Amino acid sequence: MQTLTSFESMQAWANATHREGLRIGFVPTMGFLHAGHVSLMERLRPEVDRLVVSIYVNPLQFGPDEDLERYPRDPEGDAAKCDGAGVDVLFMPPDLYPDGFVTSVAVDRLTDGMCGATRPGHFDGVTTVVARLFNLVRADVACFGEKDFQQLAVIRRMVRDLAMPVEIVGGPLVRDPDGLAMSSRNKYLTETDRERGLSLHRALFAMRDAATAGEKRAEALLAIGRDTLTVDKLHYLELVDAESLQRIERVERPARALVAAFLGKTRLIDNVGIV
Ligand code: PAF
Repeated sequence: MQTLTSFESMQAWANATHREGLRIGFVPTMGFLHAGHVSLMERLRPEVDRLVVSIYVNPLQFGPDEDLERYPRDPEGDAAKCDGAGVDVLFMPPDLYPDGFVTSVAVDRLTDGMCGATRPGHFDGVTTVVARLFNLVRADVACFGEKDFQQLAVIRRMVRDLAMPVEIVGGPLVRDPDGLAMSSRNKYLTETDRERGLSLHRALFAMRDAATAGEKRAEALLAIGRDTLTVDKLHYLELVDAESLQRIERVERPARALVAAFLGKTRLIDNVGIV
C-alpha cells in the first residue's frame, strides 16, 4: 500500500492508472475507521484493479458549533486497517483545497429535510469535497455507507445531475453486537449515553416491525418510534420515501425510517428500511 499526501500526486497516480486501462474503486472517509468502513472496502475490492481510500476531515461540512476540532483521529490504526483490507493507495492530504478556493457544489430539495435542516450547509460541504475527490481520484466506482442514507441519496443525485463518470454503490449499515450503528462518533459516548443510544435502533426496528405487521399509517408508526426513544434531544424522526426522501403519509412503496438525536453532546444517526 502506498500513501499519498498531495492532491497533485493523487491526480498523477489516477491518470497513470487509467492510462494502463485499470479500474479504480474508491472509498472516501474521514478516518477513525471501523468495521463499517472496512466493509465498504471489502465490497469494492473484488471488482476493481486498484482500490483507493481517502482520509480527510473536511472542514466545509462542519457547522461552527460542531465537533471539527475534536473529531477522533487515528492515522496509524487507519493505515493498518486499510492495508489489511487490500487497499492500494491511502490518500491522506493535510489539506485538500487550493488557495483561494471559492467554489461549491449544492444539491437542492433532497437536502431540505433531516440532516440538511438540522445541519445547515453540511451537505454543500459534503458534495463539494466529494466532487473534488472524484476529480482527483478519478474512480470508476465509489462506495458510501447506507448509515448516512441521506448523504448517499444526495451523492447519487449529484453524480446523475452533473453526469459524473463514476458509479455509486451503497454499502449496508454495520451494527455493533448490541445493535448500535457503527460510527466514529460512538467513541464520545459515556456508558449511560451508549445504553440510552440503543433506543435509536430499537425505535426504528419497532417501526419496521409494526409496518410489517400491517400498520401502514406514518403517524402511527412515528408515534411508536417516538415512544421508544430515550434521548436528550431529538433532531428528527422521519418516515420518508426511500428514493425521493419526501415525507410519506402511508407506507405503500419502499420507505425509510431515519433518526438523529443527541446523547449528551454526541449526535447519533441511524436508519432502517421499511417495506
Ligand atoms: O461520510 C463521510 O465520512 C464524509 O461525509 C465523506 C463522504 C467522506 C465526505 O467528507
